[in-house]
This record gives sequence, structure tokens and C-alpha cells, in this order.
Amino acid sequence: MLKSSQNPRHIAIIMDGNGRWARKRGLPRTEGHKEGIKTVERIIEAGIEQGIEILTLYAFSLENWKRPSTEVRALMQLLREFLIEKREFLKKERVKLISIGERKRLPMSLQRELEKTEELTKDNKGLILNIALSYGSRREIVNAVKKIAQEVKEGRLNIERISERTFSHYLYTKTLPDPDLLIRTSGELRISNFLLYQISYTELYFTPKLWPDFQKEDLLEAIANFKKRKRRFGGLSEEDS
Ligand code: IPE
Ligand code: IPE
Ligand code: MG
Repeated sequence: MLKSSQNPRHIAIIMDGNGRWARKRGLPRTEGHKEGIKTVERIIEAGIEQGIEILTLYAFSLENWKRPSTEVRALMQLLREFLIEKREFLKKERVKLISIGERKRLPMSLQRELEKTEELTKDNKGLILNIALSYGSRREIVNAVKKIAQEVKEGRLNIERISERTFSHYLYTKTLPDPDLLIRTSGELRISNFLLYQISYTELYFTPKLWPDFQKEDLLEAIANFKKRKRRFGGLSEEDS
């Protein structure tokens, strides 16, 4: 069990508020996304400095496909540029990039850059940077159920052997421990279909700051806040027992 005052191993972030940041300045929403990419860079650096093991960033949800095609295209282009421009940095910092979500729906050019970056960084032993792209948690769970059902049908999996642990191995996040801390920016107090299975005992942290305004210090504040919490996982804390 993680004791309080320990650093979170795995931080997940719902990076929200780019559009509002732009609108407040009379700019198009895409300008907010551009500024949001700068925050991504800062927060990766801060994560490395803080010795975080895994940083999962929610970059694009399955529901975000509903947005106007101009915005979707701009986002896909920004993500592609990010991967190309940051590849050397990721390599130098020993960051291992992975991604979760429905990859096949992404434009081919973005899929290719993702694959290239994953391949180039696959042996890195530093921070694991996990990008949730075209990701939806309910879909992830339903897909896990389908795969399990198929294996049972084919006689490769015994129903009795399906445990919580087995189940988690059918999710995109199979190789990762659950997040210790989930941060959402922009003041919205919801999860928006993110890691529903994985955040059962994750500590939640909400800040009104819009993602483009989120600084390294804000991440440090969230970590400091996390360290003060007592995680009980349904049991009793040391002083209560
Ligand atoms: C988060 O910012 C980025 C994505 C969802 C892709 P938004 O684009 O949701 O910004 P707001 O919430 O409209 O301000
Ligand atoms: C959640 O933000 C998805 C990402 C940050 C990628 P949204 O802006 O899409 O969520 P809602 O619509 O406010 O719930
Ligand atoms: Mg939003």
C-alpha cells in the first residue's frame, strides 16, 4: 500500500480548457490547442524532474471526434508536429512513449509518426509518457469483454480464471499500474470517459486553471497536495488501527 508522503508513481491528466483560454483572448480555439502543446512540454519536463514513473495525458477522446472537422484536423496536425519535433528530446531524456486508444481511427500520417516514436523510444528506461488518443474508457472495457468472450468461446480461457487482474490485462493499460493521482484542469468536475476501471482508488485533484495556464509549479502543488492525503483503499490508516 502506498503510504502518504510518497511521490505518485503514475499521474494521469485530463488536459482541459484550451478552447476557453483562446476564447478569452478573442482567438480561434486552435490557438488554445497550440498553447496547450507548450504546457505538455513543460509538464513532461517537470514529470522527469520529479522522478514520476508514468505520465498519462488525455489528448483526444473518442467523443472529441464529434467536434468540427477543422478543429479535429488542427489537433491531429499539432499532435503529429509534436511527435516529430520532440523525438530527439524524448530520446535524450530517455522517455518511453506509448499510446492508448483507437489508433486505427487516427489519420495515417499521425499513426506513422506514433509508430516511429514508439519504436525509437521503446528501450528507454526513463519516464513512460502514455498519450491517450482517440481514447474512450467504456469502449476499452467493452472491447476487453469481447476479447475475453472470444477466448472463452475458443476454449483458451476458463471462466473461473477471470479475475480483476486478468481483466486488467485486456485493457489498453495492461502493462501499467493504476494512476495514483488524476489531475483535471479548467474547473470541470467530471471524468469524461477517462480510465474508468483504472481510477477506482486514484486520488482526484481538480484545478480551475486552464490547461495553457498550467505551470510546473501547479504540478508541484498537485503533487504536494497528494502527499498530504491518506490513502486507505477501504482499510484503516496506520493511526486508526
Ligand atoms: C482540451 O481543451 C483539449 C481537448 C479536448 C482536445 P478543450 O478543447 O476541451 O477546451 P475547452 O474545454 O473547450 O475550453
Ligand atoms: C476531455 O475533455 C477530453 C480531453 C481533455 C482530451 P472534453 O472537453 O472533451 O470533456 P467534456 O466535453 O467537457 O466532458
Ligand atoms: Mg474541454
